[in-house]
Amino acid sequence: MNPIFSALSTSVFEVMSQLARETGAVNLGQGFPDDPGPLDVRRKAAEAVVDGWNQYPPMMGLPELRQATATHYKHWQGLDLDPSSEIMVTSGATEAIAGALMALVSPGDEVVLFEPMYDAYVPLVRRAGGIPKFVTLRPPHFGLSEEALAAAFSPRTKVVLFNNPLNPTATIFSAADLDLLADFCIRHDAVAICDEVWEHVVFDGRRHVPVLGRPDMRERTVKISSAGKIFSLTGWKVGLVMAAPPLMKVLAKAHQYITFTTPPNLQAAVAYGLGKEDGYFEGMRADFQRSRDRFAQGLTGLGFSVLPSVGTYFLNVDIAPLGESDDVAFCRKLVMENGVAAIPVSAFYDQAAVRTVVRFCFAKRDATLDAALERLADLRRAGTAA
Ligand SMILES: Cc1ncc(COP(=O)(O)O)c(C=O)c1O
Repeated sequence: MNPIFSALSTSVFEVMSQLARETGAVNLGQGFPDDPGPLDVRRKAAEAVVDGWNQYPPMMGLPELRQATATHYKHWQGLDLDPSSEIMVTSGATEAIAGALMALVSPGDEVVLFEPMYDAYVPLVRRAGGIPKFVTLRPPHFGLSEEALAAAFSPRTKVVLFNNPLNPTATIFSAADLDLLADFCIRHDAVAICDEVWEHVVFDGRRHVPVLGRPDMRERTVKISSAGKIFSLTGWKVGLVMAAPPLMKVLAKAHQYITFTTPPNLQAAVAYGLGKEDGYFEGMRADFQRSRDRFAQGLTGLGFSVLPSVGTYFLNVDIAPLGESDDVAFCRKLVMENGVAAIPVSAFYDQAAVRTVVRFCFAKRDATLDAALERLADLRRAGTAA
């Protein structure tokens, strides 16, 4: 067995979900919305199965989806992309990340990662032969610093794997952070793999700024998006990859031998969805923002210290003011005794874990959020968190 995967223990996500099932807890651990997602987009997928082509679609993706992707990102992010040479469709962002690492990393190359990070990153980097070098981000801002980047980059740096907006912190990197990152990538001749799956789920009027849009990064950036997040259909696993032709050529080679393609009906539905009017996207954001506010206000009212959430489906609570110093123990207690499942943010760190932050998913119905708040009120009343 390959030791990189065989040595991995059961993830905290599975542990918490299992405990939530066993105890009947309100599950705010896993990151998916209660809402079934846009009906017209789902209908398009159904129609395409019944009436459409169900054999292998082109390896790079349906031409109409690649065209729709170019039009969508021109409109929303000002990107000029050639659909025939700079856009590829993969089976989820996860395939795109795995493929990009396989295509760009050779054994012994260093890969800069920013912790806390999506749990797939480290095993995939290691399996590609890469050596992870970590930049540790800390609450409440989870921002970059020149010193931290200088410590992580070296002449062996080949790739930077950068997630913005950032799961699990629900933060967005500042313009100064992006300048710093670009500066280090250029100086070290590194490629930035930018996981931007949360780009559309941003609040309070914010607009996502893609690294690929910077002229100085245009030739050294791989942008990765996910229809699952754009349309609140997390099971769909349709990834969109954007990069300049020399990079795309090698990314396509990896995709060719991993999945080769992605279900054509989902591609057709995503092509339709990307062209939806602005109001759809604004409405989706407004709905999630309303849930965020409802849950944040409830938690604040109960005396919890809520960290700012400006994007994603998540909201974090600082448990240090409650006298807690072990987020894993806190989450176990929360699910077993109070009936609410959440995720300890230390699970997203590899090296220098922050142990006093807990992540909740607020992308749920009002009744679900209210039930969780009631149970958390019990915790406060019991004085467990005095
Ligand atoms: C940062 C990040 N990257 C990638 C993914 C996975 O995307 P997909 O489902 O399209 O593979 C997620 C899902 O939660 C995520 O949060």
